[in-house]
Amino acid sequence: MCGIVGYVGPQNALDVVLEGLRRLEYRGYDSAGVAVLADGRQATAKKAGKLANLEKVLADQPLPESTIGIGHTRWATHGGPTDRNAHPHLSADGRVAVIHNGIIENFAALRAECESAGVEFSSETDTEAAAHLLATTYAGTPEGPGRLAEAMRAVSRRLEGAFTLVASHADEPDTLVASRRNSPLVVGVGDGEYFLGSDVAAFIAHTREARELGQDQVVEIHRERGVTVTDFDGTVVEPTAYTVDWDAAAAEKGGHDWFMLKEIAEQPQAVADTLLGRLGEDGRLVLDEVRLPDQDLRDIDKVFVVSCGTSYHAGLIAKYAIEHWTRIPVEVEVASEFRYRDPVLDRSTLVVVISQSGETMDTLMALRHARDQKARTLAICNVNGSTIPRESDAVLYTHAGPEIAVASTKSFLAQIVACYLVGLFLAQIRGIKYADEVAAIVEDIRGLPQAVEQVLAQMEPVRALGRTLADADTILFLGRHVGFPVALEGALKLKELAYIHAEGFAAGELKHGPIALIDEGTPVVVVVPSPRSRESVHGKVVSNIQEVRARGARTIVIAEEGDDDVLPYADHVIRVPRTPTLLAPIVTTVPLQVLACEIADCRGYDVDQPRNLAKSVTVE
Ligand code: F6R
Repeated sequence: MCGIVGYVGPQNALDVVLEGLRRLEYRGYDSAGVAVLADGRQATAKKAGKLANLEKVLADQPLPESTIGIGHTRWATHGGPTDRNAHPHLSADGRVAVIHNGIIENFAALRAECESAGVEFSSETDTEAAAHLLATTYAGTPEGPGRLAEAMRAVSRRLEGAFTLVASHADEPDTLVASRRNSPLVVGVGDGEYFLGSDVAAFIAHTREARELGQDQVVEIHRERGVTVTDFDGTVVEPTAYTVDWDAAAAEKGGHDWFMLKEIAEQPQAVADTLLGRLGEDGRLVLDEVRLPDQDLRDIDKVFVVSCGTSYHAGLIAKYAIEHWTRIPVEVEVASEFRYRDPVLDRSTLVVVISQSGETMDTLMALRHARDQKARTLAICNVNGSTIPRESDAVLYTHAGPEIAVASTKSFLAQIVACYLVGLFLAQIRGIKYADEVAAIVEDIRGLPQAVEQVLAQMEPVRALGRTLADADTILFLGRHVGFPVALEGALKLKELAYIHAEGFAAGELKHGPIALIDEGTPVVVVVPSPRSRESVHGKVVSNIQEVRARGARTIVIAEEGDDDVLPYADHVIRVPRTPTLLAPIVTTVPLQVLACEIADCRGYDVDQPRNLAKSVTVE
């Protein structure tokens, strides 16, 4: 998830572009770069790290004045967060500059094609292939108005995956073109000036008039001709026009009150992006990044999942899925305990470390311990190039995009999805025991982004319910099977955001002690498994709801559509779509996040920056 800005108009393009990048920096801060057109050539500057680093470079070596330019703030996917991999990328002749958000899935084939035509690549990015292709395609496109847009359409038709591409050409000092598929792009229309942005925050300081691009469309913005939108075949289409009614501060949060709410809303995209390019059409998993030899993966006889906090809860869910699909024993452990108890590790142990930030000291130390003991290590991480993936044998990145709110939301869902991919991949390599079940689950996984979308569409009553819980002293969470880690996660979110005493329990454990906590009116949130789940665990949880209600609890029940067994015992029902048991956490977690956020907001707390916490915990 990167930030993209483009400008054509009377102002100094660099000022407009840098201002836009400042507002988009939440989308990624691995590197930043700009390109302006001046005197018939591209002038560029780019630098790894935050935008401030680029601004220092520009202060030392200013770019020429120009009225057309593009800028990019990167959240690295292909290629580490280095100066070389920073955008914009130039074609071999230096005439075309391209910035990109997304992942071009067929980039290896395109790169090979360019290289066999004699092009030398100067970065490891997928984007650079698009720059070279655009230059050669432009050269073969007849001269005349719309030439660059025509070349962009031809290139876009060849790309697979997700992309927003913005390009300029040194021969066209009045034109920017952009293309989009599965990745955001909006056009801003000012008075004699035009803007491109990943979102409206990029240009809100200049205009509130926006045009939204549809899927598989190309836009040309031209100093005189204005905005022209076509599909990839060149048919002109009318873009949706709208007026933005947010102010600049709200625009950075996508119109939401909190980054956390924005990140909750981004979860369908986070799940889709984490799956992107990894589920083959034939149902086989494609995890080329997991660079552990197949034989090593076949030899594994034990898996440890090691992580902290929310990432630990993702690990607990992973255990159910990986053990079931692979029949390899899986142990899950909080990283801060792992190395101090001398766990039994050797060459045939796979240690999966999960970390959003990739910098958590407890997890890093656990990883180093595992490596010292000769175990194989695989990191599931959201921040490209961070320490944990760099020190692991292999890495599977979650593509959730930058997470600004301290409380993890979208990265949690993306981590669970990544764990599913690891489990299915191990099953695939080792010969699948439940071949039919695994094939069906791969299909179900494809439907997860839509399922999350469905849950999000029904969150208003959950927010209203949250407001009635703002005065609670204690809220308990119950779950069974994969619902148990979800209950733990619901309790953690509430503790860290709303500072309310909250605990998650395995529902079956309740009768062994914690049921004594239930008093008249104690809110108890119950995550109910699907009625189709194994071993009638559903019926047992329904009994648990009855037990707490009989002792005075106010029951808040998260249950699948159509599960009417819960109705007699539920004071409130929150519905989620029907989902296979192992995948259910992806939908059942979402209402718990919304609930915690709403309760914290109602209590007047800073949802994005709860007290005493930090986004990445770099001390042990
Ligand atoms: C809770 C939360 C923390 C983190 C934990 C691990 O919302 O964000 O519990 O999950 O500190 O952080 P990472 O995943 O960065 O290693």
